[in-house]
Amino acid sequence: MRVTVSRKAHFNAAHRLYRKDWTDAQNEHVFGKCNNPNFHGHNYELIVSVTGKINPETGYVMDIKELADIIYEEVESRFDHKNLNLDVPEFQELNPTAENIVVVIWNKIRKRIAPGNDLEVVLYETPRNFVTYSGE
Ligand code: NI
Repeated sequence: MRVTVSRKAHFNAAHRLYRKDWTDAQNEHVFGKCNNPNFHGHNYELIVSVTGKINPETGYVMDIKELADIIYEEVESRFDHKNLNLDVPEFQELNPTAENIVVVIWNKIRKRIAPGNDLEVVLYETPRNFVTYSGE
């Protein structure tokens, strides 16, 4: 019997999508509004889910308070009110698309989750646009 425990979180951050090795026209064509040279912000929403067996002693898959603390330390404290391109080392050379952000977040949280439990992260860049990563 495996149960999924989920915690929501959010952070506000600025970014700009572009490739240094492309022309302005190419960047504009592919990245559109997200290519704005002066950056722009998103209200990112996050759903972090951990799936595993219920510990018969505690009745928990994992303590959700511990999961909340992990998300705060690994994601919110590092990304909230930051410019992802300029302030977050992982995106110095990596385009901060929702896809790349969700993989970075998953890798940070994964190392804090018990090896027998599975992890999935869903990242909303807008209320209608979201990406999912589970380490595949
Ligand atoms: Ni954007």
